[in-house]
Amino acid sequence: MAVHEIHIVKADKSRAMDYRRIFDGSKLFRHYGENVHNWMDSALANDEVWIAEDRNGEAVGFMWMQIESVYANMPYLALLGVRTDYRSHGVGQMLIKYFIESYESKGYDRGFIAVNDFNPLARRLYEDMGFHKFMQMPESLDPSHNLYLLMRKTPKHNSNV
Ligand SMILES: CC(C)(COP(=O)(O)OP(=O)(O)OC[C@H]1O[C@@H](n2cnc3c(N)ncnc32)[C@H](O)[C@@H]1OP(=O)(O)O)[C@@H](O)C(=O)NCCC(=O)NCCS
Repeated sequence: MAVHEIHIVKADKSRAMDYRRIFDGSKLFRHYGENVHNWMDSALANDEVWIAEDRNGEAVGFMWMQIESVYANMPYLALLGVRTDYRSHGVGQMLIKYFIESYESKGYDRGFIAVNDFNPLARRLYEDMGFHKFMQMPESLDPSHNLYLLMRKTPKHNSNV
C-alpha cells in the first residue's frame, strides 16, 4: 500500500457498519467496547466524519473532526482510527494533517486531540505532528486511567488569524 493511493472523503452514513471494522481489534475498542460504535454513530449523525479510502474505495481510516467543539468552541479531533492492516503507513498522519489544514483554513490557530495513557504510540504520533500536553484528567469511564488533552498552536508565520 502506498499512501498516495489513499484519499480522504466525507463519510457516507449508509456505510456505518462498514466503518465499524476500522476499530476492530484496537486497544481503543477493547477499552471502550460498544461506546466506540455509539460515538461513531453520533459523529455520522452530526456529519462530522471524514474517511480515508484506498484505491478500491474501501474505508481504511475514520476521523471525527469537530470544528466548534466543547473545548472552548475550538477544533477537536474526537476520534481517529486506521484499519489494522493499513497502520504504520502514514494514513494516520495524513488524516491529522487534513484536520490541521481544515481548521487553519477556517482561521483557527489551535486544535486539540485527546489520548489515553494506554496509547503511547498514538500520543507519540500526535506529538510528532505538533500536539503537546495541555492538561491531564482522569478518564470518565475508568478513572484509574488518565486522559491527556493535547494542543497544537499554529506557528505565527503560518497563521492567518
Ligand atoms: C493511532 C492510529 C490512528 C495511528 O494510525 P497510523 O496510520 O498507523 O499512523 P501513521 O502510519 O501515520 O503513523 C504511525 C507510525 O508509523 C510511522 N510511519 C508513517 N508513515 C510510514 C511509512 N510510510 N512507512 C513506515 N512507517 C511509517 C510514523 O512515523 C509513526 O511512527 P511512530 O511510531 O514514530 O509514531 C492507529 O494506530 C489506530 O487506529 N489505532 C487504534 C485506534 C486508536 O487507538 N486511535 C487513537 C485514539 S487516541
